[in-house]
Amino acid sequence: MSVDVQRHRTAMVRHTLSQPMSLAVRHRLVHAGVTVFDYGCGHGDDLRALIAAGVDANGWDPHFAADQERREADVVNIGFVLNVIENPFERMDALAAAWSLARRVLIVSVMVVGAVPVDGLKPFGDGYLTARGTFQKYFQQTELKALLSQVVDVEPVALAPGIFALFRSPEEEQDFLLERRRGRRASTSAYRSNRPVRSKPTRPNLEERIAPVIDAMAAFATQRGRMPHPDEVPSELHDLLVRERVSFARALDTTRGGGISDDLLAQAEAQCREDLLVHQALNILNRSRSAARLGPSMVRDIRHHFGSQQQFAEQALEYLHGLADQSRTVNAALRAAESGLGAIDEDGRLIIDNGRVLELDGILRCYIGCATYLSGEIDQEHIVRLDPLRRRVTLFALSGKRTPFPETNTSVTIDLKRQDVSVRNDRRVLVRKADVFGMAARSRQRSREVERRVREGIDEAKVLVRL
Ligand SMILES: C[S@@+](CC[C@H](N)C(=O)[O-])C[C@H]1O[C@@H](n2cnc3c(N)ncnc32)[C@H](O)[C@@H]1O
Repeated sequence: MSVDVQRHRTAMVRHTLSQPMSLAVRHRLVHAGVTVFDYGCGHGDDLRALIAAGVDANGWDPHFAADQERREADVVNIGFVLNVIENPFERMDALAAAWSLARRVLIVSVMVVGAVPVDGLKPFGDGYLTARGTFQKYFQQTELKALLSQVVDVEPVALAPGIFALFRSPEEEQDFLLERRRGRRASTSAYRSNRPVRSKPTRPNLEERIAPVIDAMAAFATQRGRMPHPDEVPSELHDLLVRERVSFARALDTTRGGGISDDLLAQAEAQCREDLLVHQALNILNRSRSAARLGPSMVRDIRHHFGSQQQFAEQALEYLHGLADQSRTVNAALRAAESGLGAIDEDGRLIIDNGRVLELDGILRCYIGCATYLSGEIDQEHIVRLDPLRRRVTLFALSGKRTPFPETNTSVTIDLKRQDVSVRNDRRVLVRKADVFGMAARSRQRSREVERRVREGIDEAKVLVRL
């Protein structure tokens, strides 16, 4: 049967960045100063938004921008293109062509199974034909990963269900993974409070003259738990030091004296050691091929925090053995809930706000890290349910987070035993928001929750109730 598939009719008009582009911006893969190429750009709305934000962006599309040159760029995006191509060989060609243009990273996104109902659609090849004459293939996460590994010889990194990044250099992939596992850090302005302040300086003192250098050094120390090496400070700041006739060593001393306190540096150091252990444990678990290739900054981090590569590897292995011990994960989940970090439900699962995952102890962060390695994150506010007995992690996207009883429509479950990811339409209401978000013991929220439990006869251990 010959069918004239209308591929271009799948392109939609966008008023906000597409999910893969906004993830690339959030993860700092895309910013001003980076070149971007959008392969299969549709109407070009992502490109217009990027250009308006100062990014050097171009694109090509066989239907909407066929006259544009297909050119190399630091970041190439092939967004929701593979899923509209009905011929599996042509999908591979498009993927290989996009990869050949990517100097640093290729971002691939497709539609995933479960995201959209397929009732009433006509099966065609390995996907469906729609009433508008378009083709849609819905991928399983593992299926997409297998396709990417088949065409491109690098390990795909999941950014979200149906979205992967492929890094050209293993060093850059490692830096990206570590940064992502670290999550956000506090701003450096908080670390300058103990600087002496003069009411009426007659002449700017040293700290004022080299303030941008102190800020940058304190920010670096907060991020990596150590002071920077000269190579790790931008050249314009070296120029400022030369103009002010201040040596690098003196700038370091001044930062230690006033830019960041010893206590905060020690705190950042402990946090970084744990970040690196979680990172390495996940590298081992996920058999990351890029783990052996580290950039110079990470080599310095390891030397500073662990003494040597060997000691680092030994400590990470020890950490992993702890992870395999079920009673340790169960106890860590109970301890987290006792300390106000989330709620334990009727089946002994820990439910926690995604924004607080970094406060969990390393063993649970490792657990969740393994899950998000397979699924990527979901691009919305969500809560995480960790099931240490069944070895599953489920992410629930929340709507109405400010209301007393937020709801969720979709869940993504990652089964760590089967290494599988499934997306479901899953309507539930959060009935213990106060515990999940660590709210005060006598809050109005808690009394509302008790009232609702009594009124509807809800078991008091339940956290998410089906609608
Ligand atoms: C669903 S749209 C996605 C457009 C855009 N990337 C976005 O996210 O808004 C799919 C696009 O893929 C384009 N396309 C179809 N076959 C392609 C191929 N072999 N190579 C590149 N793009 C293709 C279509 O013309 C269409 O614009």
